[in-house]
Amino acid sequence: HLQPPNDSQMGDLRRENCRAKGASGGFKVAVLGAAGGIGQPLAMLMKMNPLVSVLHLYDVVNAPGVTADISHMDTSAVVRGFLGQQQLEDALTGMDLVIIPAGVPRKPGMTRDDLFNINAGIVKTLCEGIAKCCPKAIVNVISNPVNSTVPIAAEVFKKAGTYEPKRLLGVTMLDVVRANTFVAEVLGLDPREVDVPVVGGHAGVTILPLLSQVKPSSSFTPKEIDYLTDRIQNGGTEVVEAKAGAGSATLSMAYSAVKFADACLRGLRGDAGIVQCAYVASEVTELPFFASKVCLGRTGVEEIHPLGPLNEYERTGLEKAKKELAGSIQKGVSFIRK
Ligand code: NAD
Ligand code: LMR
Repeated sequence: HLQPPNDSQMGDLRRENCRAKGASGGFKVAVLGAAGGIGQPLAMLMKMNPLVSVLHLYDVVNAPGVTADISHMDTSAVVRGFLGQQQLEDALTGMDLVIIPAGVPRKPGMTRDDLFNINAGIVKTLCEGIAKCCPKAIVNVISNPVNSTVPIAAEVFKKAGTYEPKRLLGVTMLDVVRANTFVAEVLGLDPREVDVPVVGGHAGVTILPLLSQVKPSSSFTPKEIDYLTDRIQNGGTEVVEAKAGAGSATLSMAYSAVKFADACLRGLRGDAGIVQCAYVASEVTELPFFASKVCLGRTGVEEIHPLGPLNEYERTGLEKAKKELAGSIQKGVSFIRK
């Protein structure tokens, strides 16, 4: 006994039919943790993205409110809200891209690894849902500590038999966004003209900006290199301290997450030459995961770029980064395998 759709479902159906007829096609995107400090502006910016036809907003609190609010924006994506674990499967079914900013943020004095105990379990549960309901989706992991939550996601997918390394990406875009901003300040350039590769991982010394490879080609004094490396590596802490207990970066993160998600969607659409830094399964170093420039395409990560020539300062930084990363990766893997 099928019920006729109510008015709001009717609107959804009409708009989906409309879009199905449109030439551009559209992608189905879910945001998990959509009512949070990152989730809300991220959901808003994804609603503005013309590549998105359906936007699912999932959280354990306040998802209906955020959904009602965002659904009034006069852009084409159809927005639906999902509240609590019992609606997770509906939130995920049919998605092309899943973005995960769910989890607790840092307070002053904490490291990202201090979030492991709570966020590891959250990411595990959400990834179990992905493995069951949209195993072919591209997954963007934002929840910290990214250096460990990406290996956790990989282990969950392996256990479920759905793991495809090309589809799992840790979001390190904020490090690149910060690096572009701070380097542009030093060079007196517009940040939009600057491109700084940031490799390694997403915590402290694992964040390794490659200042020798900045575009446009630039040189820095040793003092500038120390200043920039320190500021880029500690950008997150700078925000945590300024917010003084009210959380960590949310707005610059939402901006970065959308920049990254848009690159993933353009890759899925088949655009050529989409290159961004991301933390992925990698053979660039001896570690199983590493952030570096990757080429995004129809299947996710289609190519991982080598690190390129490093100077001595960067080689020393790389050794420090690898040492810390190895422990964080192992911690994530053991969390699922134990
Ligand atoms: P927040 O506390 O404001 O929001 C987190 C949201 O997650 C909340 O709405 C909460 O209800 C939701 N949530 C909690 N458990 C959930 C579950 N099981 N399923 C779905 N949703 C759940 O935090 P925030 O500031 O948005 O930060 C979120 C995460 O992103 C933190 O771990 C933070 O450290 C991380 N972060 C990462 C980067 C990065 O560059 N990768 C940058 C900034 C923040
Ligand atoms: C950031 O880099 O801003 C995020 O990882 C959040 C944090 O805890 O610093």
